[in-house]
Amino acid sequence: MSIAHAIRTVGVLGAGQMGTGIALVSALRAKVPVLLYDQSQDQLKKGLAFAEKLLEKDVSKGKIKSEEAKEARARIMPVDSSLGLKGFRDTDMVIEAVSENLPLKQTIFSTLAAELSPDAILASNTSSISITKIAASAIPKGASAASEEGKKSAGRVVGLHFFNPVPVMKLVELISALQTTQDTLDRARSFAVACGKEVTTSNDVPGFVSNALLMPFINEAIMCLEKGTATRDDIDTTLKLGMNHPMGPLQLADFIGLDTCLAIQKTLYEGTSDSKYRPSILLERMVDAGWYGKKSGKGFYDYR
Ligand code: 3HC
Repeated sequence: MSIAHAIRTVGVLGAGQMGTGIALVSALRAKVPVLLYDQSQDQLKKGLAFAEKLLEKDVSKGKIKSEEAKEARARIMPVDSSLGLKGFRDTDMVIEAVSENLPLKQTIFSTLAAELSPDAILASNTSSISITKIAASAIPKGASAASEEGKKSAGRVVGLHFFNPVPVMKLVELISALQTTQDTLDRARSFAVACGKEVTTSNDVPGFVSNALLMPFINEAIMCLEKGTATRDDIDTTLKLGMNHPMGPLQLADFIGLDTCLAIQKTLYEGTSDSKYRPSILLERMVDAGWYGKKSGKGFYDYR
């Protein structure tokens, strides 16, 4: 029997490509009011404009009615920048989708734990960072990890890993921290299902299932290019036509963001101390150069 998620309002933190997509499926599919926050007002505006564009496209393709699009758009409300994370105070769940930086996430979860009701779920869309480490940061200052207060606060933290582009990709990976309670897992799963997603579960290991498999594949493709095994186009075409992948690994790396790929690869390398996960030097250099892929206009391909 499926458990009701009981989410009346969801907060989404970060209005980049992932956060905007999560806000959109929450409003359109799960039909819950969404508070969207980004510390950059410019990014917030861009995110809202992108959500509108996607809704209009769905209407023009006849996938949804114009009324449904209007209702979904009206459900997404920007959080006033002066409020910051306090703007999420009355939400029943916050899904964090900021960049892959552990200290940043720890500060965010510590603040959210202090601001939100003790029953609110705190979810991270992290691609590879330990949910257990993030959950530990939700323990109130002065409380121990073994206290009832500490266990309850860390127990509402969960990994809810969406895939890009969120409106299109059918999967959400659910990750349990050591501390996550069954009730949190059940409600988070139920919310992902309400967003129209299939859910798989993974233990809290570096990269979970998805990125522990995908990133070494992308990293090997970059190493092939680095070693001169084949050209960019031949590497991508081999995988597209030989294995029926929708895009080749170098194009996919550009699409995900090379900075994100490097951050995940480093998490795998550092989290396992296994040399098989060493990031490609070419990937490191491209990130040094500010070539982040599609979002920056240049990666393995040119997008200007
Ligand atoms: N947002 C919303 N919808 C989008 C979109 C976006 N950014 N980009 C494309 N779409 C939609 C299109 O509107 C179209 O919808 P339709 O079927 O209703 O017409 C559909 O996707 C197909 O798009 P196109 O016809 O333009 O192009 P393609 O057929 O080439 O598909 C793609 C584009 C869906 C992105 C496809 O190339 C693909 O599946 N690529 C692989 C994506 C992937 O692997 N994602 C996972 C990345 S890993 C990840 O996210 C985890 C993280 O932790 C790193």
